[in-house]
Amino acid sequence: MEPLTQNVKLKTKNSVLVVFTRSAAQTRSWGRKLGKLLRGGEIIGLSGELGTGKTCFARGLAEGLGVGKEAWIRSPSFTVINEYDGRLPVYHIDLYRIDTPNGIEELNLRDYLFSDGVSVIEWFERLPPGEVDEFLRVSMAHTKGNERELTFESCGDRYEKILRVLGERNQRGAARKANVAGTTG
Ligand SMILES: Nc1ncnc2c1ncn2[C@@H]1O[C@H](COP(=O)(O)OP(=O)(O)O)[C@@H](O)[C@H]1O
Ligand SMILES: [Mg+2]
Repeated sequence: MEPLTQNVKLKTKNSVLVVFTRSAAQTRSWGRKLGKLLRGGEIIGLSGELGTGKTCFARGLAEGLGVGKEAWIRSPSFTVINEYDGRLPVYHIDLYRIDTPNGIEELNLRDYLFSDGVSVIEWFERLPPGEVDEFLRVSMAHTKGNERELTFESCGDRYEKILRVLGERNQRGAARKANVAGTTG
């Protein structure tokens, strides 16, 4: 008998890319690489415990979208939404202090989420279910010491494509490094 899942038409394809970083700079660099691939209207959801590097990643993403280092607001703790002018508008949204559905409602998030800008959202899991149905999620986790595990997951075709390019660049980067190691070692 055929597995049941073959009869289920998935609305969106889900792809996953897992990478490990060993420093804040490496995490930021992944954000930057992703930012460079964005064209406007994307939703990037970041989840993971405190200190896993969400803000660090968001900063890299903003850099990849052309936001100057000097423009970055270092401590967004007290503002839920920070807006930047890069080559596209960038909305850095941090839901850490928002713990009620009402709180979310008052933010008028949809104005940001469904705009031509890029929304990067920390504590993405706090967004009410069904609020967005297509997005790229980056789940971040502590492993050991300064190492972090970043799991990129696409939900929706456009994010699937972005993730594929990101993965290919990663492989090419790895191949280049292997070559360098090969020629010098
Ligand atoms: N591999 C790593 N990636 C990201 N941050 C790291 C890493 N290793 C150590 N750190 C440190 O962890 C902290 C991450 O902070 P932050 O980005 O504010 O996390 P979050 O927003 O998830 O709470 C920073 O102090 C950073 O220097
Ligand atoms: Mg943070």
